[in-house]
Amino acid sequence: MTTSLLTQLSALAGEAFKALDLDPAFGKVVVSQRRELGQFQCNGALGAAKQAKRNPREIADQIVGQLDQTGLFSELSLAGPGFINMRLNDDFLTGHLAELAEDPYFGCRQDRESRKVIIDFGGPNVAKAMHVGHLRATIIGESLRRLHDFLGNDIVSDVHFGDWGLPMGLLIKEIEKGEPDLIYFDSDFSGPYPEQSPVSVEALQILYPAASARSKSDPAFLESAREATFELQKGRAGYRALWQHMRDISIAETKEDFDLLGAFFTEWKGEADTNDHIPVMLKRLEAEGYSELSDGAVVVPVKEETDKKEMPPLILQKSDGAVMYGTTDLATIEQRVQERDPDSILYVVDARQSLHFEQVFRAAIKCKSVRPGCHLEHIGFGTVNGKDGKPLKTRDGGVVRLRSLIDDAIGEARKVILEAGMSERFDEAELDDISRKVGLAAIKYADLSNQRMSNYVFDLERFTKFEGRTGPYQMYAAVRIKSMLRRAAEQEFSDGRLIATADAERNLMLAIAGLQETVTAATEKNAPNILCDHVYNLTQEFNAFYHDCHVLGEKDIDIRASRLRLCAIALRQIELVLHMLGIDVPERM
Ligand code: ARG
Repeated sequence: MTTSLLTQLSALAGEAFKALDLDPAFGKVVVSQRRELGQFQCNGALGAAKQAKRNPREIADQIVGQLDQTGLFSELSLAGPGFINMRLNDDFLTGHLAELAEDPYFGCRQDRESRKVIIDFGGPNVAKAMHVGHLRATIIGESLRRLHDFLGNDIVSDVHFGDWGLPMGLLIKEIEKGEPDLIYFDSDFSGPYPEQSPVSVEALQILYPAASARSKSDPAFLESAREATFELQKGRAGYRALWQHMRDISIAETKEDFDLLGAFFTEWKGEADTNDHIPVMLKRLEAEGYSELSDGAVVVPVKEETDKKEMPPLILQKSDGAVMYGTTDLATIEQRVQERDPDSILYVVDARQSLHFEQVFRAAIKCKSVRPGCHLEHIGFGTVNGKDGKPLKTRDGGVVRLRSLIDDAIGEARKVILEAGMSERFDEAELDDISRKVGLAAIKYADLSNQRMSNYVFDLERFTKFEGRTGPYQMYAAVRIKSMLRRAAEQEFSDGRLIATADAERNLMLAIAGLQETVTAATEKNAPNILCDHVYNLTQEFNAFYHDCHVLGEKDIDIRASRLRLCAIALRQIELVLHMLGIDVPERM
């Protein structure tokens, strides 16, 4: 168990403030923004002086005196009205790093109890190929899943398939219009559909937009689709069989996309899995007085007095008996609570659904669907835009399919690799593998490095560059370290005890030691962009180190051994953080 440097230093400084009868909270130590002055700084003397009506420099001076006694610092200095700058002594720094490196988790699991977390992400729908809107839900969701996994939490990842609403009725009616043979209206038919059923995924992807368009111009069709949805929900056998078939083939298709993106789900449940629970839930909510009738519909009012915005009630059942998106989501919460008793449920879904989740969460708390303390959170995200600043569309204005987006990225990566002349040594299979890794790294890093809630412009040319804040660049930095370590092994150089001889080494060690704070912040804010900044900082510090310090060419054997050790630790952490971003590093490129 290795406590983070900032925690240790803040505790030490806190003690020093306490010894002066000042609040230990003033001892907060932060990473210095000005490396030339120190590695860390503490600005608490200013606040403490104000509170105690004393001179800040005098307080700072006394704090420095006390810190000096610890023997942990190589330099302590005062700046301005009372800022304290600190530099660690090398033994302390290298000792700390050696300890951290012993731990596969770099000290990040420290004091953490394993929590039961359900992450609901991906969110594909029957009959609709995944599109650009699912890209962020998948990439951000998977990154958070990996982060929680790294922390040792007990995770359920649930795709929550969209398989129970009006789109199902629309499809049934559309198929019925065009291909009467396909619908087994006799209520006896219960599948299975023939393997070579003409209702293929490709067919569904044409049928659904057609049905959706028809429903807008033909009210009678829309009404019939509503009825079909309701009959499906009630259990009409022929509809159920067709639905099952549509669901199966759609899941098979989305699985391919998720595999390609490296997203992992422990559950393949969907809205429909709530069907048996919904009547039970509706009955309880009515009996306990949580729900009420409004214009023939069953609703749960969720407005609170302090609301400044519109807060319509959550509709659970319409007057025609059909249930809604909010109903299946509330019922899903109840089932998850019954089955797993989670500490938190996180929903990685487009920010435009924020009202929906606010209604559902309020209803869940109000109706005691969750125990107090079970944390429900909508982890929203912004839109992926085209270069015109509007939501990304195909050239003819259509929805961009996820698969074509990924294919384009891999194609662009291949082009860049060939142009950079990196490819001569590779055979076709290796070139394919590397192009795929680079292309995926490009879109993942670009997506995750943005603040979640902001929109960003999809610009493959920029994402695939081998320089700056891009996935390929971070990956390339790791590959270079790997190749250097291979050369070291070939020369039978061994690594050894860490020693610090240059500032570039110390800076790299400090960057590595910062993972604990990074992981805490990324988890608290559900913000993979914090991980992106960390890995960027690591690769920058590594490059500065590699520029300033000889490794393989170092003549002093102890220094060379220490540097090799540092390279190996840096590589391990870079790969680890890239893994949390969903990025795989090839052996060479
Ligand atoms: N299928 C939904 C959509 O495409 C997303 C589902 C998100 N998860 C949830 N529990 N509502 O918008």
